[in-house]
Amino acid sequence: MKEFNAGDVLSLCKRRGFIYPAYEIYGGIAGLYDYGPLGTQMKTNLINLWRSIYVLSEGFIEIDSDIIGPEIVFKASGHAENFQDLMVTCNQCQESFRADHLAKDLHPNPGALSKKDLQALLREKNVICPLCKGDLSDVEEFNLMFKTKIGPGNGRVGYLRPETAQGIFVNYPNLYRYAREQLPFGAVQIGRAYRNEISPRQGVIRLREFNQMEAELFIDPANKSWPRFKLIRDVKVRLVPNTDEKEVEMTFGEAVDNGVIKHETIAYFVWVTQSFLIRAGVDPKRLRFRQHLRSEMAHYAADCWDAEALLSYGWTEIVGVADRGAWDLTRHIQYSQADLSAFKRFDHPKEVERQAFKPKYGLLGPEFKARSAKVGMALEAADVSLLKDGRVEIDVDGEMMTIPEKYFDVVLVKEKINGEKVIPHVIEPSHGLDRIMFTCLEHAYSCDDENYVRMGLTTAAAPIKVGVFPLMAKDDLDKRAMEIDQMLRERGIATYFDDSGTIGRRYARMDEVGTPLCITVDYQVFEDGTVTIRDRDTSRQVRVPEEGLADVVEKLLKGIKFDQLIGKV
Ligand code: GLY
Repeated sequence: MKEFNAGDVLSLCKRRGFIYPAYEIYGGIAGLYDYGPLGTQMKTNLINLWRSIYVLSEGFIEIDSDIIGPEIVFKASGHAENFQDLMVTCNQCQESFRADHLAKDLHPNPGALSKKDLQALLREKNVICPLCKGDLSDVEEFNLMFKTKIGPGNGRVGYLRPETAQGIFVNYPNLYRYAREQLPFGAVQIGRAYRNEISPRQGVIRLREFNQMEAELFIDPANKSWPRFKLIRDVKVRLVPNTDEKEVEMTFGEAVDNGVIKHETIAYFVWVTQSFLIRAGVDPKRLRFRQHLRSEMAHYAADCWDAEALLSYGWTEIVGVADRGAWDLTRHIQYSQADLSAFKRFDHPKEVERQAFKPKYGLLGPEFKARSAKVGMALEAADVSLLKDGRVEIDVDGEMMTIPEKYFDVVLVKEKINGEKVIPHVIEPSHGLDRIMFTCLEHAYSCDDENYVRMGLTTAAAPIKVGVFPLMAKDDLDKRAMEIDQMLRERGIATYFDDSGTIGRRYARMDEVGTPLCITVDYQVFEDGTVTIRDRDTSRQVRVPEEGLADVVEKLLKGIKFDQLIGKV
């Protein structure tokens, strides 16, 4: 096999219609790519696989919220203040660079350095512009959100969302109600997000417009156990904990029992992530989960494990599984004053004491006459913390009234309560779909010494499932092959009909785009009604009857091994 790099994969992607650089006829723009026909189909396949796991198996609900949000949303989320990278600009050629990228050979983890420390390091090592060797500016912060205006004229300031997650948090009251007001519940969103990256490189790994698949799981902050965790205790995972940053392999059970992963819920969703990625086509030998160092954690995260894939760019984050704690809901409560809590019912009612106003009805009567009963009831219901400077303001039938303290006492009352309000914590598996897709493509890619390229995409990810060929485009072979092609499409199987060039050339075209199966219709079909099915990975062929062909194809696509099928059809 030949060595290859990301450039080889990207060039195949462009040639065969997976990924195109955007606006190429105008010279292109860094960090913007389009998906071609095969890329779009593969992306849809990955989305469908992910959705089948989260929505069907794990029971999350799915929403589709706006991409543009008003400024207050991102002030509340912390992105307006904290979502920035450190940047330097060349004083000569005016090109800007991420400061930590220029320090990548000077420090083991430059992304974790503060602005001051990064500045000192770049100065101490006399780092200059990598393009023109000019002097660099001081390190400055650059907010990564795209700013816009909502409406004409002065309009309201708005931003393109930097993560799909906020659309879920701002809909929390609606979703909580939809989930029958019970924890835990989870919501997912699949869609575009935007980050105005300083100098995007590395193909589709760092994009300015990208696709996320995010899940936000709302849980009881006092209970981070997860019932289904017991099902996956014995599954192995490769972890790089932030304590010593050394890679270890252990079971999920060991990881939680030994405190390597803090609780069952985050561990379970690391497992869900691992299992999705492997089914999508990430090579398990090139996959690990690395815990963020405290200094590199996002502003909202209390803990975070990144799924990292080994690419020709090095270990690359493709999914983050974060414990966002109560950060987002607490902040949105502060900024919106909305009630974003959950009611946690106790197993048994509890008796509690609380302070309350006790109206002096003997004094209220003469002063408030016919309204005195309503004033008294409003006082009883009012919150004692509203008492200020010897008086309290209360709402009596929609009218605000100020009541001096001579009309009430403050007393301790006992009452039974059935539960309490809590602010849920959030566990978030956040998937970078474009990175996952590129990882599947790079991990599937192989090229032998004769330059024969075979893409070993999984059947779930492969954009074309079956190539259908007549041996010759004549003698009714083409008609028969077309009928098979049509029949498979009607069964929902994506096919590619090809009758041009040699059969070898046609197999090669399908191998290059990762098509798992090819069906060839030859003259034997007229004798015994059979056609051949060829397996991409072994090039082996087996004859199967045309009748029942779709069932056989479906079995093969579901993972029945080719060898198991031989002799059974
Ligand atoms: N929601 C996490 C992220 O966008 O990185």
